[in-house]
Amino acid sequence: MKAVQFSEYGGPEVLNLVDLPDPHPGPGQVRIKVHAVGISGTDWKLRAGELSFGATLPQTTGTDVAGVVDEIGEGVSDVAVGDRVFGVSDNGAGAAELALLTFRAPIPAPLGFVDAAALPVALETATRALDRLGVTDGMSVFINGASGGIGSTAVQLAVARGARVIGAAGAANQNYLRLLGAEPVTYGAGMTERVRALAPDGVDAALDVAGSGVLAELIDLAPGAGDVITLADFQGAKDHGVHFSNGFQDGHAFHALHTIGGLIETGRFWLPVDKTLPLADIAEAHRISEQGRVRGRLVLVVG
Ligand SMILES: NC(=O)c1ccc[n+]([C@@H]2O[C@H](COP(=O)([O-])OP(=O)(O)OC[C@H]3O[C@@H](n4cnc5c(N)ncnc54)[C@H](OP(=O)(O)O)[C@@H]3O)[C@@H](O)[C@H]2O)c1
Repeated sequence: MKAVQFSEYGGPEVLNLVDLPDPHPGPGQVRIKVHAVGISGTDWKLRAGELSFGATLPQTTGTDVAGVVDEIGEGVSDVAVGDRVFGVSDNGAGAAELALLTFRAPIPAPLGFVDAAALPVALETATRALDRLGVTDGMSVFINGASGGIGSTAVQLAVARGARVIGAAGAANQNYLRLLGAEPVTYGAGMTERVRALAPDGVDAALDVAGSGVLAELIDLAPGAGDVITLADFQGAKDHGVHFSNGFQDGHAFHALHTIGGLIETGRFWLPVDKTLPLADIAEAHRISEQGRVRGRLVLVVG
């Protein structure tokens, strides 16, 4: 099969489309013929060597996938050959013609492969963070980095839980945040004051998705550091006594993939695909992602 891998850490140019042996599913796994691969803000960090989940070089890439099951491993009974599924590629090897999945769910009926491939990591991560913050009906939540893949998802899931959401995004995304159900503010100098203009007593909880070094401001807006979570500011979390959520320690919230269909079918959830590119243009997708301005998700079309 064709697959993308890199043999050294570096810029997008280290990504190569190569031939690798076809994988076959072990117990509990399914193999899919990949139709679309989501590109998240984590992918370029892994490629650049800024982040590691313990994989060695040469390394494959791509986590979010959607496609059609073409082989099933021992003990699999939840899906069958021919089913449309979305999920996370085991060992981050989704930018390929075939991928193995342990965590997957049927694609909600209204979605095509491209829209479905945008979702898995964003759904899992946002759900885990909101659960950990205890976001529920009647609470107020501030989300820093509300317009990207995880942020857009967290805004809508929090609104669906009945929370009041204030979100920070760039000037060009203020109306976009309103469409998602959030009250928008711009990030940058004076952000705390802009949030306080909307919520003079602060908020009940704050989620940092962007990792832009604003944890002190989020602690100021929330009751305390225990009501703040970051997904991207590892050092800031240590410095400020804030919880850094990662799925391996907190427990992944993959159940979210099975429950999102209801919100999609009732028009209460939508994650826009900013741009699609062919798999062969993955380096360009990484370049765009790295600039940090993606609204929703970038998705690669495989076939
Ligand atoms: N801990 C975990 O479990 C976990 C899991 C997955 C991902 N992550 C991390 O979570 C982060 C977000 O991932 P993602 O895929 O959602 O990223 P993404 O979609 O690439 O994020 C792009 C968004 O970031 C926003 N942004 C850029 N600079 C900002 C700033 N200074 N303040 C606020 N927002 C800013 C942009 O907003 P504008 O365009 O509006 O400026 C853009 O919408 C990444 O660092 C990723 O590595 C963590």
